[in-house]
Amino acid sequence: MNPEIYLDNNATTHLSGAVGEAVKTAVEENFGNPSSEHRSGEKARRTIVESRDAIASLLGVSADRLLFGSGATELNYWVLSDVVRSRGNAHLVTTQVEHSCVLETANALEANGVRVTRLPVDRKGRIDLEQLVQSMDNETSLVSVQWVNNETGVIQPIREIADVCDSFGVPFHCDAAQAIGKVEVDFDRIGIDFLTTSAHKMHGPTGIGALCVKDRRSLGPMLRGGSQEHGLRPGTENLLGIIGFGAAASEREGSLSYVISSIAKLRDHFEAMISESLPRVVINGRTEHRVCNSTNLMFPGLDGAAIVALLDRNGVRCSQSSACTSSRPEPSYVLRAMGLSEEEAFASVRFSFSNQNTMAEVERAASKLISTVGRLSGFAPRQTETDNLQGAFKHEV
Ligand SMILES: Cc1ncc(COP(=O)(O)O)c(C=O)c1O
Repeated sequence: MNPEIYLDNNATTHLSGAVGEAVKTAVEENFGNPSSEHRSGEKARRTIVESRDAIASLLGVSADRLLFGSGATELNYWVLSDVVRSRGNAHLVTTQVEHSCVLETANALEANGVRVTRLPVDRKGRIDLEQLVQSMDNETSLVSVQWVNNETGVIQPIREIADVCDSFGVPFHCDAAQAIGKVEVDFDRIGIDFLTTSAHKMHGPTGIGALCVKDRRSLGPMLRGGSQEHGLRPGTENLLGIIGFGAAASEREGSLSYVISSIAKLRDHFEAMISESLPRVVINGRTEHRVCNSTNLMFPGLDGAAIVALLDRNGVRCSQSSACTSSRPEPSYVLRAMGLSEEEAFASVRFSFSNQNTMAEVERAASKLISTVGRLSGFAPRQTETDNLQGAFKHEV
């Protein structure tokens, strides 16, 4: 049996030990409804306050402007649909490389008559600020740009985008699902109006996320019901999720810069090993504006899906940046927007690291990748099994 080497941390992360402990203790000792008047309720309420404080402190926002929801998908949908509607349903500016939850929300708004501008990106995956300025007009209701791309790790110029939005008096929403815990986020100082996150990208639980909002009055309620989350997102709180998120945030806050630099060392070493042995491999979106943990590699002439499948069989978990629609694989729209051909997009694989990975794991994974690619491209002795796989996975593009 191959021990697992998990290099798909942009999809989700393992719970950290501290998060697991905090959730386990809460399962055993903290089960009250935070709205209840009795002591069990009070204990739950107190824990939520502590967790909210920890997350707010990590994100640089005051706790009364941090709202819990089920994650970035829900919170992105809420912000986009509510803010665009309340500001006249006129014009949304976003990019071509957003997560599907933003792009699909934009499509739905467009179907309801909202004008949508989807900004292109350059070969390095970044938007052009001049194009952003040109796309703005006096009907623009909202600008929505992600902080970090989930496929390539490319970082957008968030501070500059916030300044442009401010100069036009247009609110700015930033999807920071892939930034939290990997980038210093100082919400209050940057001038973002809405920032959305998910805990499970940072060793917290799935199904819990946070929205930072500059002014709570700028957002209408997502649901109707009780007074939880200032009546904006009512419903009994996800206590275990919030406790786990709080533990993940406390753990990360004290160690953020150390974690960023140690994950970057793992990623850079992996890339160096691959580039040395496989010089034709291209790093998609290689720029100084890239988050510490991600690399997106293009293997010319090969099929990324075959590489992912073979590595999986050998214990290495990674993923291809493609979405499957009704069993037909689509090339990554993010890579296509960056100018890659369909074939190049299909030839690309995403590896994403975390502070739970070790250098020994990274070296083992790189060696397995090098031999997998060698076999698939015929540089190393072929094996019947991989020969067959190569044929089976080759796309006709
Ligand atoms: C950039 C980005 N936004 C939004 C999401 C959605 O997060 P969730 O599935 O936790 O709602 C993801 C998840 O992969 C993401 O990477």
